[in-house]
Amino acid sequence: MHTLSQNPIMNLKKPPLFLFYLCFFAVLLSCSCTQQSSQNIPNIQFLQGKPLPNAPKADTKPYRFTEDMFAMRNKIFWQALEPFKNKSNIHYLEIGVHEGRALLWVLEHIMTHPTSTLTGIDLFSSGEGDFKPKEIYKNPNDFKQRYFHNIRSSGHENRIQTHIGYSQDVLKTLKKNHYDIMYIDGCHTLMCTREDTSLSWELLKKGGILMIDDYSKEFPDVYQAAQEFYANNADNMEILHTGWVLVIKKLR
Ligand SMILES: C[S@@+](CC[C@H](N)C(=O)[O-])C[C@H]1O[C@@H](n2cnc3c(N)ncnc32)[C@H](O)[C@@H]1O
Repeated sequence: MHTLSQNPIMNLKKPPLFLFYLCFFAVLLSCSCTQQSSQNIPNIQFLQGKPLPNAPKADTKPYRFTEDMFAMRNKIFWQALEPFKNKSNIHYLEIGVHEGRALLWVLEHIMTHPTSTLTGIDLFSSGEGDFKPKEIYKNPNDFKQRYFHNIRSSGHENRIQTHIGYSQDVLKTLKKNHYDIMYIDGCHTLMCTREDTSLSWELLKKGGILMIDDYSKEFPDVYQAAQEFYANNADNMEILHTGWVLVIKKLR
C-alpha cells in the first residue's frame, strides 16, 4: 500500500497549530507598534480653551529688553507652573535664554524660594538654526551683555547658572533626573529639536514639566520633532496643553 503521495509537496507535514497562533500574535504586535509610533499629540487646552486668566507681568527691576518673545506665553506659564510657586528646592532649566525675559519672569513669579535654582543655556552667537536671525542677531554680543546685566539686576545672581554653548552639548553634561521645569526655546531645526527634547527628557524629574516653545505648524521642524518625541514616549507623558507652548508632564 502506498502511504506517500507522488507529489512531494503533499508529503510535507501540516504546520502545528501553535505556529499559526504565533504568527497571528506577531502580526497583532507589529500592528500595535506601528500604531504607537504614528500616534499624534492630542489637542488639549488648559481650561478647555477658555481664555486663560491674566498672569503677573515681569519687569519689576531695571531690566534692559529690546525684544518681547515671551508676550502671551506668560498666561500659559502661569497656568502650568503656579503649583511650583515658592516651593523649596525647585530647579528650572531654559534652553535659549536670549535677553532673559522668560527666565526672569519664572524667577520673579515661580522660583521665589531662596533654595530654588535657575539654569540658562545660550549660544549668544549668530543665532544659527533660529528662525529670525536678521532681526535679533545683528550683534549677538549686545544681547549677551543685556542678558548678564539683567541677571545682575534681578538681585538673585547667586541662584542662576548660565552655560554658554550649544544646548546639544551642554545638556549632556548636566545632572539627570534633576530638573522640575524645563523650557526648550533654542535652535528650531529638526535635528536640534530632536536632540533637545530627548536629552532634556533624561534630565527631567518624575512629575516634572517640559515645555516646548513654538509648537505650531508654522514651525514644521519643531512640530515634527515634538510629534516624534510624543510617539516614542507617550506612555510616560501627560499632555497638559498644546498651542504655541506644548506643556508635558513626565509621569515616571
Ligand atoms: C527665540 S530666542 C529665545 C527667547 C527667550 N526664551 C526669551 O524668553 O526671550 C532663541 C535663543 O536660542 C539661542 N540658540 C539658538 N540655537 C542654539 C543652540 N543650538 N544652543 C543654545 N542656544 C541656542 C539663540 O542664541 C537665542 O538667544
